Amino acid sequence: MLKLFARKKDTPSTLLFDFLKVDLHSHLLAGIDDGVQTEAQALEIIEQFLSYGFQKIITTPHILWDFYKNTPEIIHKKLEKLRLFLQENQIHIPIEAAAEYYLDEHFLQMLQKNEKLLSFGEKNYLLFETGLLNISAFWEEAVFLMKANGYQPILAHPERYIYIQNNFNFLEKMLNLGVLLQINILSLVGYYSVEVQKTAEKIIDARLPHFLASDCHHLRQAQSLQNLVQSFFFKKIQNYNWLNNTL
Ligand SMILES: [Fe+2]
Repeated sequence: MLKLFARKKDTPSTLLFDFLKVDLHSHLLAGIDDGVQTEAQALEIIEQFLSYGFQKIITTPHILWDFYKNTPEIIHKKLEKLRLFLQENQIHIPIEAAAEYYLDEHFLQMLQKNEKLLSFGEKNYLLFETGLLNISAFWEEAVFLMKANGYQPILAHPERYIYIQNNFNFLEKMLNLGVLLQINILSLVGYYSVEVQKTAEKIIDARLPHFLASDCHHLRQAQSLQNLVQSFFFKKIQNYNWLNNTL
């Protein structure tokens, strides 16, 4: 009973993310990256997501070869474990897994060999990230190969990269090469920094992004998502044509 009350306190009165329906970027597979470490932690976050009105989750563990040597086999095994745990605890929400590929040499090699990568949606969306300070010299080759191999690249959280904050022309160059953009909800609530928040707002004001997602690693981040209600940007993003709904 006590637990029920405790949970209720964190529950927002509105279905905050009803307008998105699908979250496509999170780290909810236990112990394989810097996200949750147990299925129980994932469950707590997923309960929060349900209270926000999310109706589907596509979770995306890091594949970053220096730190997280995740393969489709590892990811699918962990996904099955999480699905079973949710079922046992009567939590019902469709959950799929893809990945967040770090733009490193290993990723480039997989693209060059046309290895099967973890994508989602009918358009084979492929989520990738880069270093926060700079982007690899071979990024154009990687984008070309992603498209040539039948994937639709999505750059995760462009607003967090210093090389984009200082250079919007670079962002336009990426868009012209066919890269789609995914903004983090947490950027809009000032979770990372004022600079990241300002850049996210600027990208949305220019009507450039395609997806909005949680990039949730732990419960504190899941709870911070509800601060969006207080943002003057909330109305603006509710009326924006996000592609989340198409997934
Ligand atoms: Fe992420």
